[in-house]
Amino acid sequence: MTKIKIFNIRPEERAIAKKWSEEHQIDIDMTEESLTLDNVSELSHYDGVSLLQNKPLDARLYGLIAQEGIHHLAQRSAGFDSYDLSLADQYKITISNVPSYSPESIAEFTILTTLMLVRKMPQMLDRVQRQDFRWHVDVQGKVLREMTVGVVGTGHIGRCVAEGFKGLGCHVQAYDPYPSPLLEGVAEYTSLTSLIQTSDIVTLHIPATPENHHQFNDELFQQFKKGAYFINAARGSIVDTKGLINALNDQVLTAAALDTYEYEAGYVGKNWDNQFIEDELLLSLLHHPKILYTPHLAYFTEKSVSNMITMALDAVLEFIQTGTTKNKVN
Ligand code: NAD
Ligand code: COI
Repeated sequence: MTKIKIFNIRPEERAIAKKWSEEHQIDIDMTEESLTLDNVSELSHYDGVSLLQNKPLDARLYGLIAQEGIHHLAQRSAGFDSYDLSLADQYKITISNVPSYSPESIAEFTILTTLMLVRKMPQMLDRVQRQDFRWHVDVQGKVLREMTVGVVGTGHIGRCVAEGFKGLGCHVQAYDPYPSPLLEGVAEYTSLTSLIQTSDIVTLHIPATPENHHQFNDELFQQFKKGAYFINAARGSIVDTKGLINALNDQVLTAAALDTYEYEAGYVGKNWDNQFIEDELLLSLLHHPKILYTPHLAYFTEKSVSNMITMALDAVLEFIQTGTTKNKVN
């Protein structure tokens, strides 16, 4: 019988994976562990593998995975920046992602956090908790409909974001080296420089690559429209966090909503209540009055989780049966 190993299984995924395994008559073993040098030898017992790898896969593993007879890793996310695709190519390992499990989940979250900043919701809730019900200027917001939104990256998620903001009456502009005809009448494409100089809200929806590491840095933030809002629900590495904090402290930016943070691996998905957080940069995000930080939750809906696991398992099966998958990224 065909056998699949699922690493990094999450509690909310288990029942969905079990149902898939029953429907497809395929054996599945699940573990919360990551794939490591200690357990890679187990792979020889399986026909396929799925992971939810949220930090770079150890470079030494690629050769060992191939040695164990596995030539496909099905990542259960849209982003695949945890993998070194040239190493994967070298060892003839196909990496697949789940390209469109629910772009609207991330788009709605982007719009939610943007509105929270624009209408000062964190400050409102804080005052309400303290039973301060005054109509104080600190909780006086702005009208989103009067704003220009700049969407950087108009793939699956960016397009949904652009449509959402357009539906709310905003003027939407976009930057992507490959403009989408689907956004005709929704967004006006422009250069990145023009977008950041003229947008009241800039929101990132691009993959992390070695080339765009810290692309959003001190120098770029200084060119933003004064008083703009900055939203990052893409990947932390694209933003130089210290540069962002400087721009907020220098009043270049009004506020930022960050669902991703460059050094988040090891922190997200775990309970840190009453535990010491060593990362001072993360602490400075948590305590910054102009930053709304969420620990990589934009994707987290019932639909996303269900699609991520079933679509990744579909890709595993497709690869076992055909030697390739339509979701391959290398
Ligand atoms: P996608 O591949 O459909 O679209 C990405 C778009 O970005 C493409 O159109 C591409 O041409 C464009 N692009 C690439 N580099 C660019 C650059 N430097 N400047 C401008 N445009 C550029 O991907 P997607 O499904 O829309 O997802 C985008 C990213 O969002 C993912 O790679 C992932 O990192 C992130 N993401 C985050 C969450 C979350 O929960 N926070 C969830 C899913 C995805
Ligand atoms: C993605 O799908 O790329 C995400 O960021 C969410 C995932 C890491 C759980």
